Amino acid sequence: MKQKIPLAGVIGSPIAQSKSPRLHRHWLRRYGLRGDYVPLHVEPENLETVLRAMPKMGFVGANVTIPHKVAVMQFADQISDRATLVGAANTLIFKDDGRIFADNTDGYGFMANLRQQAPEWDPKAGPAAVLGAGGAARAIIVALADAGVTEILLSNRTRAKADALRSEFGARIRVVDWVQAGNMLEDATTVVNTTSLGMVGQPDLRVPLDGLRAGTLVTDLVYNPLRTPLLEAAQAAGCVTVDGLGMLLHQGVPGFERWFGTRPEVDEETRRVVLG
Ligand code: ATR
Repeated sequence: MKQKIPLAGVIGSPIAQSKSPRLHRHWLRRYGLRGDYVPLHVEPENLETVLRAMPKMGFVGANVTIPHKVAVMQFADQISDRATLVGAANTLIFKDDGRIFADNTDGYGFMANLRQQAPEWDPKAGPAAVLGAGGAARAIIVALADAGVTEILLSNRTRAKADALRSEFGARIRVVDWVQAGNMLEDATTVVNTTSLGMVGQPDLRVPLDGLRAGTLVTDLVYNPLRTPLLEAAQAAGCVTVDGLGMLLHQGVPGFERWFGTRPEVDEETRRVVLG
């Protein structure tokens, strides 16, 4: 039998803006590996059909993005602990018999980015302030708690969603009203924006930032623009700033390694290629 060319892809809707094809194709080229990686525009009503067909078409796995990260869990035959905790998956591995293994590497990507860009950062140095309580925030909270952060100050426009995360993830979380979000920054040694505020085409993040202290680690999941107004203000206040592009790059590492057999490096060249 002829050897099949391993395929992977990213499933989402919309998908045209995804940077993942550029990332994985760059790594395939760099390491001289056989394989390809394609963007797949899939509507929710077709998700199951597509997932069942993919292994038969030569796919060894896929990334999953908006709006499928939660829905995809119901079609998985096996789910990693971290995907179970987060309640969502972004990385699928198709076994030879077509069975689907679902994992979540967002928290890994978040942490690997901080460790690479801010090696001096100590998650245990003090409380972490998290803005937002959506899907991305769940992965970040799990990752921060895992890294030993003792207190997580959590603020979200819709307070009920922050309260729900507190019920789920426990007493380490203290919920702060959205109108008070600026105050929690004073106590934090780590600040993370998980909302879409500050992204091109989205409203500004209007949380008052004058509480930011020099030396605080500030990171933004928004990477378009790369230097968000939050990161600019944080830098001016003497904070250590880390942009969100690295998280996107690092979250792709475990999937690529499982699909194509080589653990890829995230470096300056990777950033350049993905930014185009
Ligand atoms: P993701 O998976 O990227 O986290 P999401 O689950 O839709 O996406 O969450 C978006 C986050 O951005 C939420 O915390 C949302 O706040 P609400 O829970 O109140 O909706 C936050 N967000 C989006 N637009 C916002 C706005 N205009 N003001 C404040 N927060 C906003």
